Amino acid sequence: MTLQTIPSFGVGDAKAFRSAIIEASRNGSAAIGDEFGEVFVLAHEAVRLGLTDRRLTGVGLSFFDASGVPEGELRDWYGRIMFTNEGKAHHRLRRLVGKAFTPKAFASLREEVAVFAQDRLEALREKGGGDLLYHLRDLPMQVMCSLLGVPKRDVGKFFEWVTDLSPVFGFMTPKQINMASAALHSLREYVAEMVEGRATCPSEDLISCLIQAEDEGDRLSRQETVDMVTNLLIAGQDTTLSQIGCSLYVLFKYAGGEQLSHNSEEKLSSIVDETIRMEGSIAAAPRTALEPFEVDGQVFDVGTIVMLTTYTANRDTAVWTEPDAFRPDRFLDAKTPKMMTFGGGAHFCLGAWLARLTLEEALRAVIAAKPRLVGDADDLEWMSATGANPVSIPVGFVE
Ligand code: HEM
Repeated sequence: MTLQTIPSFGVGDAKAFRSAIIEASRNGSAAIGDEFGEVFVLAHEAVRLGLTDRRLTGVGLSFFDASGVPEGELRDWYGRIMFTNEGKAHHRLRRLVGKAFTPKAFASLREEVAVFAQDRLEALREKGGGDLLYHLRDLPMQVMCSLLGVPKRDVGKFFEWVTDLSPVFGFMTPKQINMASAALHSLREYVAEMVEGRATCPSEDLISCLIQAEDEGDRLSRQETVDMVTNLLIAGQDTTLSQIGCSLYVLFKYAGGEQLSHNSEEKLSSIVDETIRMEGSIAAAPRTALEPFEVDGQVFDVGTIVMLTTYTANRDTAVWTEPDAFRPDRFLDAKTPKMMTFGGGAHFCLGAWLARLTLEEALRAVIAAKPRLVGDADDLEWMSATGANPVSIPVGFVE
C-alpha cells in the first residue's frame, strides 16, 4: 500500500501543514513527507508506543545530514547536546542536569514570571491595544536569563542569538545554517565567560548549580556546562513563545470573547494543557529507525526519519472525546488520556514544568486583562521555526 504524501516537516506554510496532517490522520495512520521522505506516524496509540520503542532512536544528526551540514562548530555542538545523544551518554547528561534544573530549585520563579506577564499586559492596555504576542515575545527568554543570572541589559542579545538558533531542531535552509552558526559562536563565547566567572565566584543561579551538580563523583566539564546552558536556552525560547501564540489562538478561537474569566483560577493548569493539546507548537517528536521500519505494509530503511506526530495523536477520535472541542476542564479528570506535545520516553521534554509555569502565568495575565481579538482567529497568518504559531495576535480592549 502506498502511503499518502504530505508537505515535509517545517517546510512551507505552517497552517497548511497542520491542516494537511489532520486530514492525513483522518484518511490513514501514516504519511510520507514530499521533500525529505520522512515518515509521519499519526495515530495516538502508534505514537504512544513509538515514543518508547527501542527500534527507534533519537533523531541524532539526521536533520543536519538532510540539511547538508557535514562539519563545523554548529554540528559539533549539536552532536554533544541531550537531544542528539543516546544511551549512557544521554542518561549521564540528563542525570547531571536533573540535579540542578528542578522546579524545587527555582520555587520563587512563578512570582517573577507573573509580574513580568502582568506588566506586559498593562503596557499593551495603556497603548489601547496592539500585537499581544509581540508584547510577550521575550517572556521565556526573560525567565531563562533570570534563572541563569544573565544581566537584564543583555537579555535582548540572548533573544536574538537564540532566535537565530531555533531552526536547528528541524530541516534548515542554507541561510538559516549561516545565521545559526554565527549566533552559536557569539552565544558560546558569552556563556563560556559566565561559566568561568561562576566557577571562581559561585552564586545561587542555574549556572552555579550546573557547575556544582554532581552524581557519584561525576560532574559536567566546563565545555559541557557551556553546551548545557546553550542547549537549555535554545530548547526553551522558541518552543515556549510559539506555544504562547498557539495557546492564545485557541483561547480566542474557541473560548471566544468570554476569555474564561469565570472559574478560570481553579482550572488554569487544565486550560493550559487543553490549549497545548489542541494546538501544540511542536507537531512531532522526531526519531530515527534503527531497524527496517514497517508502516501500513510499507518497509522503510534503517536511518529513515520517523516523525511521531503528537499533533494528530492529540486529536485522535479513537481516544479523545470530542477532540475538536475546547473543554477547559478536560484535564481535571484523572481518566483523561495523556497529551503528548512534550514527547515521551528518554527524551521527554526536560523543561515541561517550566513551559507550563510560563504558560500559566501568561494566560492568567491575559485572562485577567480581557483583551479582544481584532478580526477572526482563522484569518491569522502563521509561521514556523522550531514550533509553529500565529505571526501576530492583534488585540484591543473594551473599557
Ligand atoms: C511549550 C514549550 C515546549 C514544548 C512544546 C517542548 C517540546 C519538546 C519536545 C517535543 C521535545 C522532544 C521530546 C521527544 O523527543 O520525545 C523536547 C525536548 C527537550 N526540551 Fe522541550 N519543549 C518546550 C519547552 C522547553 C523548555 C522551557 C525547556 C528548557 C528550558 C526545554 C528543554 C528541552 C530539552 C533540554 C529537551 C531535550 C531532552 C532530551 O533529549 O533528553 N523545553 N521538548
